[in-house]
Amino acid sequence: MYNAGKIITGIVIFVAIFTLPLWWQLGRAAKVPQPELPKKEKQCVLDTEYMRTSHMQLLNEWRNSVVRDGNRLFLGQNGKMFNMSLTNECFRCHQSKKKFCDQCHNYLAVSPYCWECHLTPEQVKESK
Ligand code: HEC
Ligand code: HEC
Ligand code: HEC
Repeated sequence: MYNAGKIITGIVIFVAIFTLPLWWQLGRAAKVPQPELPKKEKQCVLDTEYMRTSHMQLLNEWRNSVVRDGNRLFLGQNGKMFNMSLTNECFRCHQSKKKFCDQCHNYLAVSPYCWECHLTPEQVKESK
């Protein structure tokens, strides 16, 4: 006689292992990044969709403009002027690297090297 209990246990274990990658995916999907957005300001430098996908390009342009041309003024959406500065401008509105930038970057496992030289708002607070 076969042992029905053992067979069923075997099947349950087999199904569990076989579907493990699926459960793992579900767990991951539940934790999509939730960057904390500014409460007072309603608009970013350029439109949100562009910022979401291309903020690294914008930061590059800002750096080149400041370092190569000494120009620090940027004309953003709706004719607003911005001071091209990572620490002083981006973080004027987005007040935390941890609760904003890191939310997405940790999820994507990217870690921009900017903070070796540029201050985060967390560091600015500490130094006061
Ligand atoms: C004047 C305030 C202000 C400044 C300055 C600013 N932001 Fe924003 N940013 C916002 C707001 C408000 C939103 C959300 C807009 C919305 O909900 O449509 C946003 C959205 C974003 C997003 C998309 C977030 C998401 O959840 O999709 C990114 C990325 C971003 N900003 C990066 C930056 C960077 C990098 C800089 C500096 C180059 C910067 N921001 C400067 C106010 C600002
Ligand atoms: C809505 C999600 C999101 C937010 C918020 C966000 N980033 Fe990013 N960031 C990304 C994505 C996506 C990439 C591209 C990753 C890739 O291509 O590998 C990226 C890449 C970058 C890069 C280029 C890194 C590299 O190694 O290529 C820089 C610089 C950067 N982000 C700066 C910032 C700064 C500064 C902030 C906060 C002010 C910020 N990001 C907030 C999603 C985000
Ligand atoms: C080795 C040090 C170093 C690193 C790393 C570095 N920067 Fe800079 N960055 C500088 C210096 C120095 C300036 C010129 C400061 C000035 O003239 O105000 C500058 C200027 C800038 C500016 C314009 C002025 C300002 O105050 O923000 C931007 C934007 C910028 N960098 C973005 C970035 C980004 C984005 C990264 C990471 C992908 C990065 N930098 C990495 C040293 C560095």
